[in-house]
Amino acid sequence: MKGKPEKLIVKGKRLDGRKLDELRPVKIEIGVLKRADGSCYLEIGNNKVMAAVYGPREVHPRHVQEATRAIVRYRYNMASFSVEDRKRPGPDRRSIEISKVSRESFEPMVIKECFPKAAVDIFVEILQADAGTRTAGINAASLALADAGIPMRGLVSSCAAGKVDGQIILDPMKEEDNYGEADMPIAMVAPDNVTLLQMDGHFTKDEFKQAFELAKKGCAQIYEMQRQALIAKYGAEGKQ
Ligand code: CDP
Repeated sequence: MKGKPEKLIVKGKRLDGRKLDELRPVKIEIGVLKRADGSCYLEIGNNKVMAAVYGPREVHPRHVQEATRAIVRYRYNMASFSVEDRKRPGPDRRSIEISKVSRESFEPMVIKECFPKAAVDIFVEILQADAGTRTAGINAASLALADAGIPMRGLVSSCAAGKVDGQIILDPMKEEDNYGEADMPIAMVAPDNVTLLQMDGHFTKDEFKQAFELAKKGCAQIYEMQRQALIAKYGAEGKQ
């Protein structure tokens, strides 16, 4: 990657031409994998991710079964070719952390009591990374769960806000994530049920409030795109 640009915001515009409160372009394709129960391919800017859901299915190993409800498992994995410097294959501290917080962003939303002793397995593969892969993965996983017909209390939508050159921005890309002052990914179910909130860097109290509100607005926009993608695939009544 090139060195730090002198400025990340020039005349109110970001390096990729976006306004401060603008998301990167999003592309969604639901039901792309034949062998998964549900799947979704999603792009946001230069991030490209694939989510696959298997289940509800029998739990292996058996001792992790829960008698009255399903367990939800989530594996976030970055392909070795997804980043500039080759990523060493296999789990590392970062992917274990992202898998954990992403799973927790779904746990209150999946109606687990419908499937005692079963597992719902969510796999997220990052094919190309450009900052915001955990949020892209959550957005794709949410649609893959819906595609698999897993009962949920709502669609989980996710997006980050950040701070660069002293200004609060929506959906930071790689340069902004690398050289910015703060990054705050959230996930939520509309209208106000926040299931993930992480923060890297420093915000003042007022900046935090501003960033949080902006990230929630981003989630609401993503939610609308997710809803439209589901309607395009299944129709307004959920048929295909
Ligand atoms: O991707 P996300 O913003 O959720 O997580 P992050 O840990 O803040 O990583 C930000 C970005 O750094 C990733 O999206 C990748 O573009 C990059 N990265 C990388 O180049 N090599 C890694 N081993 C990990 C992340």
